[in-house]
Amino acid sequence: MNRSDTQRFDYIVVGSGLFGAVFAQQAKEAGRSVLVVEQRDHIGGNCYSHDFEDTNINVHKYGTHIFHTNSEEVWRYVNRFTEFNRYQHRVLTTHRGDVYSMPVNLGTINRFFGVNLEPREVEDFIAARGARDRIENPSNFEEKAIGMIGRELYEAFFKGYTMKQWGCSPTELPTSIFNRLPIRTSYHDSYFNDRYQGIPVGGFTPIFERMLEGIPVETGVDFMADREHWLGRCDKLVYTGPVDRYFDYEHGRLNWRSVRFEIERHDLEDFQGTSVMNYADTDIPYTRIHEPKHLHLEKSHTPNTTVAIREYSLRDNDRPYYPVNGEADRAILAKYREMESACGKTIFGGRLAEYKYYDMHQVIGSALQKAAKELSGREPRPAVIPTT
Ligand code: FDA
Repeated sequence: MNRSDTQRFDYIVVGSGLFGAVFAQQAKEAGRSVLVVEQRDHIGGNCYSHDFEDTNINVHKYGTHIFHTNSEEVWRYVNRFTEFNRYQHRVLTTHRGDVYSMPVNLGTINRFFGVNLEPREVEDFIAARGARDRIENPSNFEEKAIGMIGRELYEAFFKGYTMKQWGCSPTELPTSIFNRLPIRTSYHDSYFNDRYQGIPVGGFTPIFERMLEGIPVETGVDFMADREHWLGRCDKLVYTGPVDRYFDYEHGRLNWRSVRFEIERHDLEDFQGTSVMNYADTDIPYTRIHEPKHLHLEKSHTPNTTVAIREYSLRDNDRPYYPVNGEADRAILAKYREMESACGKTIFGGRLAEYKYYDMHQVIGSALQKAAKELSGREPRPAVIPTT
């Protein structure tokens, strides 16, 4: 029996992703004892990154991660654990062999329609094209999109990509998904508008190593396989795994979209000229190709070498990435929320336990807020969790 087999802790944190690592770091800083258990063989959750073979190229194993936030508090906090480079994210999309910039902006519109509009002309131009097919009170993604940008732009850039990403017709998706996709009347093509943006210079994993410094971490351990053992060894549990699994799927399973990655090494200096290229058409089975060396222009890589990663979208509730959040899911989730309120010993947090699509800065904000409340026994000041 090793030391940690009998030792008791103030907190056991299930999951070493951002929520778990931030909570554990805050608890340790407040003088509490903490143990982290992680089912994967590495820390960092979906932010995990590593150098690929001998290339000196840092690869984000679970998809490209760009840190961005408007929150001073989150930015200050994360800068305690890393320095960021000055990377600014731009997304390109390939449609019928041509490359356009995303989100749809003045450059995209002019190139796609072969016109040379000025910013003040865009609204009328799009309205004229959209008005033909506009549906009052749109009830789904497709109707909303056509009303806002017209059928041509919708079919070129959104229809096929959305079908691949969500595995269903856009007519089956809520309007709210389209609300999240910005359209610009200027040439501004930076993906995020946030004040702070970048990639950690050493990749993401060192952030987690520093946050978890001095905290015991057991990797390769599935909490659910021995739940009573872990619960018996702590005063409080912080659970960041899937909420339906915690309750043994008593009210059914929540639906998730999943992703699969295929990684290739190429003897080329540059494969696609950018960090992320979307593929809008359905005859191409993947949704995007990532080329991570473009995230680190400050770094030198092995010459004449690059890495390209194809991303495929699929349905797989056992490998959860994006909450589907349909009507049935919301009904199931409400029942788990009721069960949570009867579990005084467990704190639920992060994207899997909350069944919420969170960006990194939002998870950090949420973990800081829940940790402050838990560790001080007081409600922290509001608005720590960034909404965008
Ligand atoms: P996360 O899933 O990272 O961590 C949960 C951990 O708990 C995992 O390590 C898991 O193994 C562990 N666990 C679960 N069950 C367990 C059990 N029973 N026992 C032990 N361990 C268990 N955000 C952003 O800001 N910019 C970006 O560019 C991107 N890009 C991006 C791309 C893709 C493809 C995805 C899917 C997501 C992003 N994100 C993003 C979002 C980002 O990944 C997300 O906000 C955080 O990783 C969420 O951190 P959590 O700690 O909540 O979950």
